[in-house]
Amino acid sequence: MKKLIVANWKMAPATWGEAQEILEFANDHLESLSETRELSVVFCPPFVFIEEAARLLGESHLEHEAFLGAQDISPQDTGALTGEVSGPMLAKLGVRYVIVGHSERRWKLGESDETVRAKLEAVLRNEMIPIVCLGETEREGDWMEFLRRQAERAFAGLPSGQVSRCVVAYEPVWAISTNPNARPDTPASAIEAMSVIRSALRSISGQEGNIMLYGGSVNAANAHDFIKEPDINGVLVGGASVRKEEFVKILSAAGDESRS
Ligand code: PGA
Repeated sequence: MKKLIVANWKMAPATWGEAQEILEFANDHLESLSETRELSVVFCPPFVFIEEAARLLGESHLEHEAFLGAQDISPQDTGALTGEVSGPMLAKLGVRYVIVGHSERRWKLGESDETVRAKLEAVLRNEMIPIVCLGETEREGDWMEFLRRQAERAFAGLPSGQVSRCVVAYEPVWAISTNPNARPDTPASAIEAMSVIRSALRSISGQEGNIMLYGGSVNAANAHDFIKEPDINGVLVGGASVRKEEFVKILSAAGDESRS
């Protein structure tokens, strides 16, 4: 099965020139992996680079393996909402995937489960694919119940066909590289958490075939450990996705694994 690598650039890089370098570097590298098409990449740049990135992806070799993603979306398609970017605007630019419920938006910017759900619906309404981030803040107490409830608040009541279109990213907050004392999860424990999410999805929609990613301190040294697991369909990479040499090593790890 194709592995999916999502590059969440967050609020970086500082200029379009640097963004272009990352995309062109990845393009050159993907050319060498392209025969097999066993890997898909989603680049999620800051909004201000999306239009240029769409043009570059459309003109380059990346067109075949790479998709455009956004890091956020307005819960409403129209109306007066200062600072927001709507689903129809993103779809028109060629955005295919949208990250919703990222822990930085939940925990640093106070985004509630209700807002996450409204954004998830906005992505689906505009026929893009949500990448729904779920994850406990600490691996203590009844963290499994926390995860189950978070999944329910995101998905309960959606038609099952819509639930199954969603990509789920298990991103434990304690593992995100920008947190003090961050440490990556281990593949075995990430799989354990993913099974909690899968079982919640099964009770909500009667299905559990969602593409499931791991995110949190993924880098060139550990990417292969996660990607090689059949139960992990890919990785969501933050900090390492704007370090171009490191990012292509992650792509290589994914390419090698899908060929094996
Ligand atoms: P990280 O970020 O890879 O820098 O830990 C992942 C994310 O926040 O999506």
